[in-house]
Amino acid sequence: MSQPLRVIQWTTGNIGRRSLRAILARPDLELVGVFAHGADKVGLDAAALCDWPSPTGVRATDDVDALLALRPDACCYNPLWPSIDDLVRLLEAGVNVCSSAAWITGGKQAPADLDRVRAACAAGGSTIFGSGAHPGLTNMVGMVLSGACERVDEIRITESVDCSTYESAGTQTAMGFSQPPDTPGLAESVRVESEVFAESAAMMADAMGVTLDRMSFDVEFTVATADSDLGFMQIPAGTVAGVMGYHRGWVGDRNVVSVGFNWTMGSHVVPPKPLAHGHVIQVFGLPNMRTVIHCLPPVDWTEEGFMGLGMIYTAMPVTNAVPAVVAAAPGIATLADLPVVTGRVAHL
Ligand SMILES: NC(=O)c1ccc[n+]([C@@H]2O[C@H](COP(=O)([O-])OP(=O)(O)OC[C@H]3O[C@@H](n4cnc5c(N)ncnc54)[C@H](OP(=O)(O)O)[C@@H]3O)[C@@H](O)[C@H]2O)c1
Repeated sequence: MSQPLRVIQWTTGNIGRRSLRAILARPDLELVGVFAHGADKVGLDAAALCDWPSPTGVRATDDVDALLALRPDACCYNPLWPSIDDLVRLLEAGVNVCSSAAWITGGKQAPADLDRVRAACAAGGSTIFGSGAHPGLTNMVGMVLSGACERVDEIRITESVDCSTYESAGTQTAMGFSQPPDTPGLAESVRVESEVFAESAAMMADAMGVTLDRMSFDVEFTVATADSDLGFMQIPAGTVAGVMGYHRGWVGDRNVVSVGFNWTMGSHVVPPKPLAHGHVIQVFGLPNMRTVIHCLPPVDWTEEGFMGLGMIYTAMPVTNAVPAVVAAAPGIATLADLPVVTGRVAHL
């Protein structure tokens, strides 16, 4: 086997700690560094950050120069909020970036920021790629299903889940949860926070050879009928507990791609459409195609609850893409550009 690829893990939250475990488990990847956003994590061994059974000898740091000096091939980038400055720094230094943090095509970025990212890729000979579960894998499945159609009218992808155990209060609040539904600008805030879904819709249209005339966003809020205490956040009665919305891409008056969500939080909400507890992928056309991805526990699952499965499902399309992203031409690579990203058969 050729030398393992040298990888750094950028933050170890819900998604990042799953990515970190996967890097440690793959023989073709070598963990060389961990970036910690939180001061409490600086100096800790990577093993302590992801419940890995034995020390790794790699300690988390917030010193980016020290991480770049390790000459990593790639970075698995999973911060809560992405930073163009950090991305540019990594890419300029020749580090290929695989991100779950609001990046599919980069299309939602300000043109000047996108230019900086492209220039950094050119300077460093590096590639940036974004994926995840949704957006990410779901779009890939939608594109693949469309390949079975003689005619595609619309690809529609809906994340239809109860998010109550997804402990990321920052993300959930930004998506409208726990806010009064008449908060000024709430719909626009949700549009902006979820704009990466528009990137994924545009990517699917582009892959089908369609030029979109415009994107639109629509959202419907449902309020809680009683208080819910989720531990990491409260959903008081009368505040938003259901958010259903779509980013839609249009050709003339035809809605050809739609990517969205039907999310609930807490026990006291009835969403506009019943939850499917998974990712609903529909291709309308000839024929109509429909599948629902359910993320289910294997027999040896020992964690309490099933949210960890969703975190693995989100992290792996990014981390498993590292070899393909390192091999890709410099620049922005999307799911439509890379070869199929697969998982690895476990070592016996
Ligand atoms: N495509 C998808 O399917 C999908 C699904 C879910 C999430 N995501 C995205 O994946 C990323 C990670 O999600 P997550 O649930 O793992 O998030 P999270 O656990 O809430 O936060 C991730 C890490 O970000 C760091 N952090 C905290 N506050 C920060 C701030 N103000 N600025 C920058 N970093 C900060 C912390 O790093 P330390 O651990 O070092 O302190 C934290 O552990 C997010 O961008 C999220 O939107 C994508």
